Amino acid sequence: MDERMVTGELQNEDSTVELSLRPTILNQYIGQKKVKDNLSIFIQAAKMREEPLDHVLLYGPPGLGKTTLAAIIANEMGVQFRSTSGPAIERSGDLAAILSSLEPGDVLFIDEVHRLPRSVEEILYPAMEDFFIDIVIGSGPSARSVQIDLPPFTLVGATTRAGLLSAPLRDRFGVLSRLEFYGTEELCDIVERTSEIFGAKITHEAAREIAGRSRGTPRIANRLLKRIRDISQVKGETEISLQTADEALDMLQVDEAGLDHIDHKLLTSIIDSFQGGPVGLDTIGATIGEESQTIEDVYEPYLLQIGFIQRTPRGRVVTPKAYQHFGIRKDDG
Ligand SMILES: Nc1ncnc2c1ncn2[C@@H]1O[C@H](COP(=O)(O)OP(=O)(O)OP(=O)(O)O)[C@@H](O)[C@H]1O
Ligand SMILES: [Mg+2]
Repeated sequence: MDERMVTGELQNEDSTVELSLRPTILNQYIGQKKVKDNLSIFIQAAKMREEPLDHVLLYGPPGLGKTTLAAIIANEMGVQFRSTSGPAIERSGDLAAILSSLEPGDVLFIDEVHRLPRSVEEILYPAMEDFFIDIVIGSGPSARSVQIDLPPFTLVGATTRAGLLSAPLRDRFGVLSRLEFYGTEELCDIVERTSEIFGAKITHEAAREIAGRSRGTPRIANRLLKRIRDISQVKGETEISLQTADEALDMLQVDEAGLDHIDHKLLTSIIDSFQGGPVGLDTIGATIGEESQTIEDVYEPYLLQIGFIQRTPRGRVVTPKAYQHFGIRKDDG
């Protein structure tokens, strides 16, 4: 299948540029004021006490800047950033090896922390709480358990699915920070910042247009900008214009609300086949041929945010606002 322009999830074409676009200090990290203000205080306090920062859990939809923020935390604390992910750690020995190689104060970033195997997760509990691990050496009757002390460290966990985190793991994070969708102004700043890094000029109107169609998500804004810059360059423009941005976005089939054909399919199938709902997520999934989990994690959050669908106890409902977007009248027949 085609890669989707407007998904917040990381795609192949993103990875090559993302590293160079990542802000490295808290001050350059645009938006998320509440999260930033909190972290800034905790970081200052930890530094004054010369202690590692409390363990931090970052959660929210894909592409909002969790990995970026984790790296900033390490940078601001002046420590090493060690990065891994839940699915990459298969056995408890893998985690033990990582933990015992940390330097005092280091940040260990575990992406998709909800996907840690349970046996691995259990090693983390005493590691997070009291900085030691118990490992079993040998097997059979000669097996014995050895306690290894760890340097104090900071675990930064990231997840798009905080609800899937086990309670004992969640409770061991001292700081829980939820990243929110970005506002248009903030995304506009991000687009202008990224253009500058690209060495491309863009009008404020064009930047705003891209921002408005990026579903509150920096990763999408940057991806759209990259495509639009190419088109603008081929046209021989010295500055990305609003007209080019508009044309390119239409060509990329991203509508004024930032929705693409999958969103359209999702919304119109609820409208056409279920009179606008309520309809259960599994039924929607079966109708449009998508996993209900993907709908819930990837497609739905932004549609909920902009008030195009609502969650009710009996299922999802398409709102009048969405009907209006499609120019469809809702009849009650
Ligand atoms: N606040 C921000 N200011 C500027 N750029 C940002 C900001 N947040 C994210 N970005 C940019 O958006 C891109 C995606 O960010 P990042 O990889 O941190 O998202 P993520 O939340 O970790 O996504 P995922 O859930 O897929 O792991 C990066 O290239 C980063 O440069
Ligand atoms: Mg990430």
